[in-house]
Amino acid sequence: MTDRHVISASILSADFTHLGEEIAACESAGGDWLHVDVMDGHFVPNITMGPFIVAACRRATRLPLDVHLMIEEPERYIEAFAKAGASGLTVHVETCPDLSGTQKKIKALGCRAGIVLNPPTPVDSIDPYLAEADLVLVMSVNPGYSGQNFMPETIAKVADVRRRLDALGSSAWLEVDGGIDVDTLPLMKRAGATAFVAATAVFKHPQGPQAGIKSLRNAIANS
Ligand code: DX5
Ligand code: ZN
Repeated sequence: MTDRHVISASILSADFTHLGEEIAACESAGGDWLHVDVMDGHFVPNITMGPFIVAACRRATRLPLDVHLMIEEPERYIEAFAKAGASGLTVHVETCPDLSGTQKKIKALGCRAGIVLNPPTPVDSIDPYLAEADLVLVMSVNPGYSGQNFMPETIAKVADVRRRLDALGSSAWLEVDGGIDVDTLPLMKRAGATAFVAATAVFKHPQGPQAGIKSLRNAIANS
């Protein structure tokens, strides 16, 4: 397991009229990755952004782009996202019929291959794909919107995935996403998470995104 813990700032809660400035604020405050939430209105009820926005982010920052695909048939779009500048592509086990093939395709495109499971999905369902995963994302809300309440029952799931990764000797990132703030981050860190996605806690911080990143960084350091 890595000793490094990273903050992945989700632009879903950014002010899109000032996206470049919002991203620059995250970068200058020491944010590690930018998280881009892609939603198709089918796999999840909401519709958000596609490769066009990923390409705009790529031009705005050197930070790795952590792209979370909440879409049906993700294999159809991974090449477009890789070309747009994604650093990592994370696909849902619930909607990927050939996950092994998709992992291989993502790696062949030079991206970090991530897999993700929703709160109701059993951890066993990702077992066949863990050894090849560069990142495992455990959702701590049902995906679709930022600003939802953290689901405490997902803490045990993170601990379970941590045990399975350690048993394999895997150095994959263990990421959590949904309701992560200064109170919930330490719980997930103690369970074994190493990457923390946050939209509201960064971009809706009353003192702005820099203060948001700094307070999450303190929460990592003090837990
Ligand atoms: C939810 C998205 C999350 C979301 C997190 O479907 O996958 O990445 O942006 O938002 P917060 O941090 O506000 O829960
Ligand atoms: Zn996400």
